[in-house]
Amino acid sequence: MNLLIISGSPFPGSSAAFLAEEIKAQIEQPENHVEIIDLCEWDIPLLGSPSTEEVEKFKDIAREADAIIIGTPNFHTSFSGILKNALDHLSFDQFEDKPVALYCTSGGMRNTDPLAQLRIVMRGLHALTIPTQVCASSTDYEKNEEGEYAWLSDEMKQRIARMLDSLITLATVTKSKHHI
Ligand SMILES: Cc1cc2nc3c(=O)[nH]c(=O)nc-3n(C[C@H](O)[C@H](O)[C@H](O)COP(=O)(O)O)c2cc1C
Repeated sequence: MNLLIISGSPFPGSSAAFLAEEIKAQIEQPENHVEIIDLCEWDIPLLGSPSTEEVEKFKDIAREADAIIIGTPNFHTSFSGILKNALDHLSFDQFEDKPVALYCTSGGMRNTDPLAQLRIVMRGLHALTIPTQVCASSTDYEKNEEGEYAWLSDEMKQRIARMLDSLITLATVTKSKHHI
């Protein structure tokens, strides 16, 4: 299975990227190829600018994925602008009937609002977004002075496992259907 994780924070060393690494660790199996696109490391120009090699590469990787996991920080109770811009470069080509899972990280309390909005965008792209999602907050992990994150309990890891289980189950069905 070809799995893509898009981490939608504009900041290096982000909590969204920490969760992306946890997700990767949980689904990394010999039969899975897992790639993380941390958007802060990618130069995706604002939509409307001429396309670039990097944009085309981003589109290709997303198109080839059997399932996509998308993470965002909570910015003003919504998802990040860098993520919206990246998604605006994509289309049905990348998402039609594709299983998608969503997660977010908040600075205050755990909050589902950013993902409620991202879910609408996914509907617009005809993705098959699974109901189980992960809404973490800074009360779920700590970051030390070296910038390393650590979980404060196993609760979120278990929630991530549940979400990935649903995603892989659905992706197994859609992948076999697409390959008929
Ligand atoms: C512009 C901006 C807006 C934010 N708005 C919220 C908010 O509405 N609610 C909240 O809980 N945290 C808010 N935060 C805090 C971030 O959600 C929090 O720091 C998050 O964990 C950052 O994730 P990252 O490390 O992946 O960038 C905001 C941060 C920024 C920079």
